[in-house]
Amino acid sequence: MPLVDMKDMLNHAYHHGYAIGAFDLVSLDFLHGIITAAERTRAPVILSLAESHFEYFDFELVMPAVETAAKRASVPVAIHLDHGASLASAVTAISHGCNGVMVDASHEPLSNNIQSTRAVVDMAHACGVPVEGELGYVPGVEGEDAERHPGEVAYTTAEEARTYGDQTGVDFLAISIGTVHGHMKGKPKLDFRRLKQINETLDIPLVIHGGTGLSDDQYRQLIANGVAKINYYTALSDAAAKKINENTAADAGSSYTGLVKDIRTVVAAEAERCMHLWGAAGRADEVLSNCRPWMPVEHLIIYNVHGIGKADAEAMIAEGRQVLAAIPGVREVFTGESVQNNTKYRYTWLVRFCHPAVIDSYREHPDHVAFANNQFRPVAGERISIDYQTVAPGTSHIEHSINREAIQ
Ligand code: 13P
Repeated sequence: MPLVDMKDMLNHAYHHGYAIGAFDLVSLDFLHGIITAAERTRAPVILSLAESHFEYFDFELVMPAVETAAKRASVPVAIHLDHGASLASAVTAISHGCNGVMVDASHEPLSNNIQSTRAVVDMAHACGVPVEGELGYVPGVEGEDAERHPGEVAYTTAEEARTYGDQTGVDFLAISIGTVHGHMKGKPKLDFRRLKQINETLDIPLVIHGGTGLSDDQYRQLIANGVAKINYYTALSDAAAKKINENTAADAGSSYTGLVKDIRTVVAAEAERCMHLWGAAGRADEVLSNCRPWMPVEHLIIYNVHGIGKADAEAMIAEGRQVLAAIPGVREVFTGESVQNNTKYRYTWLVRFCHPAVIDSYREHPDHVAFANNQFRPVAGERISIDYQTVAPGTSHIEHSINREAIQ
């Protein structure tokens, strides 16, 4: 069960002088390669999914595989939405299993960036999910030449970072000090004085976007000045593309499986190099014993209805499924009817929360309150409602148990 709280994970890296790779994945080969690298080096790792890449894969289809890979890994893993476009993107990402989110409003004026980010922080924290904000602008597009996307770097200032940090409550901050996404022309020049000032001002884990193409010494200086998360994609993409070209030149290029052969091996090799270079290698056990495990909660209600017929009960249940599934932090809503006749509790709701924090935020959410008060409680008689903290198959004991029982 090595899905862990991402805030604990990055705080560990921040306070112990190393950085964790947030590797953007675009296929199952990338997923496999990144996890293999983390297990081989015993490194904590962040599986990162960039919204700009959603045109290349179906996020909803890929997430169960990402979650399965995280849960069966022997090293600590977090799952992160990278460059989310809106509050709605963050809500969707959490409902599909991300336990860290970034919504990027860095192209907006400071006051708008603060306002948009604050809304994401309020929502995500109510789900127990930490948030990465971005201040300043890192130009370019992951995997492409920065020259094809000319945009000016807008450097982060320590003064703005303080205001932004105070007013948004972000858990991690992505800063702009000279990197670009994708391939850069010439050697990147990084402003370490600026980075040092920002770090001294904020004292939270900092994030570097555009992690590809820096020198070993630049990585070392970034980490020494508070960078605990390095976003990395282009070099993985380059390694995969090079392998495809080699496969094309060789006989293996005659079939799809021949073309993509060994992609996971080269992705793993590049990710492994980074894990050693950034000091994450060998940290897995420490992180596992110091970070809270990420554990879902099942909210179970068993009840009967009074004063309405079956058709009205079904309409109320259908409405509830829709309303409740849209509340932030809800992963799934199951409803059911007893197989046996004459049971005291004929119906059930089973609502899956991503985190214990959702027990309270769900209960207080205006959509839940309206549905419960206007549609459910007037017809539901005696009922039992219990929140269960659940464990994955194969886990032998319940840690951090928070079972609470309430009969309403
Ligand atoms: P690179 O593609 O330059 O490695 O940057 C990745 C990134 O910043 C993703 O957010």
